[in-house]
Amino acid sequence: MFCRELNRGKCKTYLLACERTRRAVLIDPLKENSGRYIAVAAYHGFRLDYLIDTHTHADHRSGTFDLADLTDAKVVMERHAPAPHVALHVTNGDVIEVGDLRIKVLSTPGHTPDGISLAVDGRVFTGDALLIGGTGRADFPGGDAGQQYDGIMNALFTLPDDTVVLPAHDYRGNHSSTIGIEKASNPRVAGHTRAQYIDLMANLGLALPDKIQEALQANQSAIDDDSLKFPDLTQLNAIRQTSPSELNARIKAGNAPAIIDVREQDEYKDELGHLPGSRLIPLRVLPAKAAELDNLKGSEIVLVCRSGVRSTTAAAILTGLGFEHVSNLKGGMLEWNEAGLPVDR
Ligand SMILES: [Fe+2]
Repeated sequence: MFCRELNRGKCKTYLLACERTRRAVLIDPLKENSGRYIAVAAYHGFRLDYLIDTHTHADHRSGTFDLADLTDAKVVMERHAPAPHVALHVTNGDVIEVGDLRIKVLSTPGHTPDGISLAVDGRVFTGDALLIGGTGRADFPGGDAGQQYDGIMNALFTLPDDTVVLPAHDYRGNHSSTIGIEKASNPRVAGHTRAQYIDLMANLGLALPDKIQEALQANQSAIDDDSLKFPDLTQLNAIRQTSPSELNARIKAGNAPAIIDVREQDEYKDELGHLPGSRLIPLRVLPAKAAELDNLKGSEIVLVCRSGVRSTTAAAILTGLGFEHVSNLKGGMLEWNEAGLPVDR
């Protein structure tokens, strides 16, 4: 297996390829290095089949969407990933075939809800779940230190000790470690109970990264052309969350709020379907179309998307424009479907 890190920086992007078939995959590409990746793949005579983000990144813009436009490669992410244009959603235990390579998907959420690790050929790409001598922070929206601990213990630390660990970030100049080394000496997790880990992660006191607004919400929505001014974290946290059962009860009682779905056109008709009576206004055009909703300024509005992330952004945008009673469908169409509630397709 060909395996090379391509950034030579703190963010790691890996090119993996099957040397027999010349089929290749990029893991966690950066937007600004898209040209480099295509050049390196071409230099080695590889054809890119897949672009995998191990999670929705908060510190850099993903290169997956540009690269998917520029090549025939398909974007792959975990099924809870909020962004549109993910061609293949994966979940724990799935296998991604690239030539002769069999890349096994391991669910490792907690840094984000959509975190995966990828195990192949004696290596494991751990995203920001497990870092060398550390772990990814769990204090971003949707983060969960307990879930992160479980993923590390149950999915990663059960791999053979000599498995090489290749994380999405390294801030200390490390390049490689093994599961055995991390089990024995990772200061965040070695010898710590789940409760101790949760306590440790709650008290790290880290500042938020500089580019979190520009990077995280751009990656969540695949809107990365600076056309949209994203709300800040305070505005996002102020949005009221409506559960699927609460919304369904109101619809059944004949007391439905206005329902606005902010996904893309093709998602509205995909396998998750959409809420009966909902109106589609994609997030990218919502600010321009908000004037059409003027008659709803004093009414209740519930915003809907795939996982409840883009719709929270949409709810904060409408709130900022003077809409008074806006809430978000918690968990989006994923939770709505999991609850077995009615959809139109
Ligand atoms: Fe991350």
